[in-house]
Amino acid sequence: EPALAIVKPDAMKRGLSNNVLSMIASEDIEIVEGGRRKLSKYEAEFLYQTHASKDFFAGLVDFMISGESMLIKVRSVDCSKKLRVVVEALRKSYAMSVRENIVHGSDSVESGRREARLFDLIKLRS
Ligand code: TYD
Ligand code: MG
Repeated sequence: EPALAIVKPDAMKRGLSNNVLSMIASEDIEIVEGGRRKLSKYEAEFLYQTHASKDFFAGLVDFMISGESMLIKVRSVDCSKKLRVVVEALRKSYAMSVRENIVHGSDSVESGRREARLFDLIKLRS
């Protein structure tokens, strides 16, 4: 099962990318490929398209394009399930607010597949 983790701009600025990577590894999730990149507006909107009608959408997109992120394509059995455990633990330790919550993780098999494809498309464009 493929999925996508993202170290968000707040965490990059705070130097937390290694904490995210080691938590992912500790859950026995394979890191397939990773890269640093400032997301485009289009990419951030695609990532969060299910929230397009929410009142926080514009602010969320602005935050996601405010600086560099680290995109991490991952893979394992029950990957999205394990990834959400990692996400919750990391946020509990480090998140500053509902928005500045340091890390993204695909939340289902379906979104994992979709977001892993997004990773491949972003790679092609950069
Ligand atoms: P959501 O899917 O609820 O969270 P998760 O990242 O755990 O899947 O929301 C997506 C992102 O939207 C979330 O990581 C942070 C942002 N967000 C806001 O900026 N404001 C809000 O009020 C909420 C609920 C989320
Ligand atoms: Mg979600």
